[in-house]
Amino acid sequence: MGDAAITLRLPPLVGMDENLTNLRQQFLDDASSVSSAEQLTALRDKYLGRKTGLIAALRKRVGSIPSDQRAAFGQQVNELSTEVDAELAALTQRLAAATEATALERERIDATLPGTRPRWGHLHPITLLRQKIEDIFVSMGYSVEDGPEIETSFYNFDALNIPPGHPARDSADTFYVSGDLALRSQTSTVQIHTMQRKSPPLRVIAPGRVFRRDTPDPTHNPMFFQLEGLNVDRHITLADLKGTLQKFVQLMYGSNIRTRFRPSYFPFTEPSAEVDFSCYICGGTGCRVCKGSGWIELGGSGMVHPRVLETVGINPEEFSGFAFGLGIDRMAARMYDIDDIRLLFENDVRFLEQFV
Ligand code: FA5
Repeated sequence: MGDAAITLRLPPLVGMDENLTNLRQQFLDDASSVSSAEQLTALRDKYLGRKTGLIAALRKRVGSIPSDQRAAFGQQVNELSTEVDAELAALTQRLAAATEATALERERIDATLPGTRPRWGHLHPITLLRQKIEDIFVSMGYSVEDGPEIETSFYNFDALNIPPGHPARDSADTFYVSGDLALRSQTSTVQIHTMQRKSPPLRVIAPGRVFRRDTPDPTHNPMFFQLEGLNVDRHITLADLKGTLQKFVQLMYGSNIRTRFRPSYFPFTEPSAEVDFSCYICGGTGCRVCKGSGWIELGGSGMVHPRVLETVGINPEEFSGFAFGLGIDRMAARMYDIDDIRLLFENDVRFLEQFV
């Protein structure tokens, strides 16, 4: 309030007792420096306080005034009291007005000033690709499942028909957390959870993080993303698997894309196949993206092994199914022309913000 100090100057009353005139002047001086509600209260107490106020002290003196002057003195004290009271009321009003003006000035908003634009984030390239793949499979009637990243040996190995002593169970390949618990090395573990939870017919995809003790290089990371697919129903055949993945790559990369299935081995599928698709850049003649081969690796696949179905209580005589697993990081690297998948997880915003 400093600058907004309020000044009071009233003309002196004619014929007033000298003491009263001095007190009046003192009040006016005090009042002129009041600039806050606290000071105003103190001023009121000082002059109008019922017991200790200066005007109360004057009233006490009325009795000691010679009787011929007493009435006039008493009247002047009353007038001074009324005047002080009125001035304090005026001061209160002016102080409130000054306080409000200061607050208004402080809170004034200039709506014409340019705003501060918030920094926009955006989705990670892996997320963008994952959403695109999910959209395609959801449009084919698949639902999206999730599963734990830490699993017991039952889900990591036993239920997937990976027997004790199999190299995949070795701690040189798998990150063990403690005893029986390990980070999942493939999203195939979600096949088991899903078949335990749901009865066929079922069509699910399960994207997620997986972990392997692979040495990092331009195509390997110890943590990467896979997307599992599982379709279990009556009369599902290898032709359904081939047709589904063929349709997927066409929706993903273009209607002229072809697939090829190479015989392979996974303990939880029989038969098993590696799936490749024709290069979407050169059309199969060979280029930098497909490393001259004309083909690009999509992932592993196969018909769900009857032993896996039995483990989760599904009768393999009645039901059959196919499954596949895609590596999302390598797909993203190819799609965005990134020559080292490790860049995806270095969290360098300058790199990541290129992929919107
Ligand atoms: C599997 O993991 C099987 N679970 C796939 C599968 C599912 C087969 C269902 C049958 C039925 P594989 O080990 O080949 O398969 O890995 C699949 C994909 O993961 C690979 O094609 C590759 O794209 C990706 N991948 C594997 N290791 C790494 C790694 N260290 N860094 C980045 N991507 C990797």
